Amino acid sequence: MTAIVDAICARRSVSPKLLGKPGPSVEHIVEMIRAACAAPDHGNLAPTRFVYIPDDARQSLAEEFAAAALETNPDSSQSELEDAKQRAMNGACLIAVWAHIDENNPVVPPQEQWIAVGAAMQNLLLAANSLGYHCKIVSGARISSKSLRAAFKLGDGDILVGFVVLGTYTGQAKNRPRPEPEAILSSWNPDI
Ligand SMILES: Cc1cc2nc3c(=O)[nH]c(=O)nc-3n(C[C@H](O)[C@H](O)[C@H](O)COP(=O)(O)O)c2cc1C
Repeated sequence: MTAIVDAICARRSVSPKLLGKPGPSVEHIVEMIRAACAAPDHGNLAPTRFVYIPDDARQSLAEEFAAAALETNPDSSQSELEDAKQRAMNGACLIAVWAHIDENNPVVPPQEQWIAVGAAMQNLLLAANSLGYHCKIVSGARISSKSLRAAFKLGDGDILVGFVVLGTYTGQAKNRPRPEPEAILSSWNPDI
């Protein structure tokens, strides 16, 4: 295999709780976004937006997470709200991802725009790995809450996708079973 295929196959997510300092420098973050910008994108619609959460804004995001938890479940206990808040504090670096999907584009259907968003996110993950960081995409049930939509000032057609949590991890990342290539690859036979 080539080095790039090896790197793609070796990618593993790491739980945000384990993603310690150091997080990526500003230069590294820009480099990761540059990789994201190289993703396939039908019609050059640039449907993906990344929002870096500065360290001193984490506490405010934690309050928004708690508001989103309360919105989703008004009976949330104090410990559930604390848990929601903690999710804004996990990891050395947090980047929100939202998508602008044009449902009425005459050329590029929404599913192709979503594929472009996924490809951009994957490029970011791979770039992060290659720069020496580990990461994980997380979302959760509260991702489409009004509170979080308002926090990120989303408008019509804008959808909050999740957060990429990044940091340093020196342990062995958990292996998730991957499908065997034969399980998802077939050869088209026009006669059957
Ligand atoms: C858009 C998106 C949202 C996700 N949200 C969550 C989440 O909220 N919680 C979670 O544990 N995993 C979530 N995942 C899955 C993990 O990021 C990760 O891919 C999965 O645990 C498999 O591990 P691997 O990346 O090492 O194969 C999400 C993945 C994507 C693409």
